[in-house]
Amino acid sequence: MHQHDIRNIVILTGAGISAESGLATFRRPDGLWEGHRVEDVATPEAFRRDPELVQAFYDARRARLKEVAPNAAHQALARLDAEWPGELLIVTQNVDDLHERAGARRMLHMHGELKSAWCLGCGDRMHWEERLGDRPPCPSCGVAGKLRPDIVWFGEMPYDMDRINAALMRADLFVSIGTSGAVYPAAGFVQTARYAGASTLEINLEPSQGSFFFQSSRFGKAGELVPAWVDEILAGIVPS
Ligand code: APR
Repeated sequence: MHQHDIRNIVILTGAGISAESGLATFRRPDGLWEGHRVEDVATPEAFRRDPELVQAFYDARRARLKEVAPNAAHQALARLDAEWPGELLIVTQNVDDLHERAGARRMLHMHGELKSAWCLGCGDRMHWEERLGDRPPCPSCGVAGKLRPDIVWFGEMPYDMDRINAALMRADLFVSIGTSGAVYPAAGFVQTARYAGASTLEINLEPSQGSFFFQSSRFGKAGELVPAWVDEILAGIVPS
């Protein structure tokens, strides 16, 4: 595909893009996420069984955001967002706020956000910076102890799937950055994009589980490869 044929871009990001900012990825060799099995902290069942543990876990992750900053990969995508004249959508699986802190605007959090709370009493979702483990009252309905992290756990439906699928069906280029390709539906986006006729590129430290589906791949650190790719695409160089 020639550069002039690329107008609409969809970018999927995962934990690997935030690794160089100092945030842990999920699927480490020890199988643990910050010392916990994912199923003990990232499922609705875990929250029902031990809400204190789950709230403390996400309170710690939310507090950690104050200690980290966007890296060169987040900054490069924010620059692409600002300068790309065609359609662009950055879909992140990450619950950190590093894309938006770098300045990205055309983006969405398909797995929710650490800085959002969801009231199981009244159903409202709201921006949230503080702890939830202290069982604060909901600012909307006033009931205490009903707020949970607005995070999409295993077994729950990701956000904005209609909008994501519509963007994928219009995409000329799909780029996956820093994700292991282990979790659906995000892991299937590459196939939707190919079905729609898009070119597909993977940028990751190592081949992901779905590496086979991508037409081209670049392996290495996101902080180095993403700025280089953004330079190319903005200069009109064909991705490969
Ligand atoms: N640059 C590029 N890629 C990297 C880097 C880096 N500096 N460091 C790690 N990676 C790669 C890893 O090799 C791995 O393939 O990023 C990927 C991270 O994979 P996961 O830890 O599985 O994270 P992710 O794909 O985002 O997980 C998906 O699973 O637990 C759920 O909901 C959670 O959104 C999360 C989803």
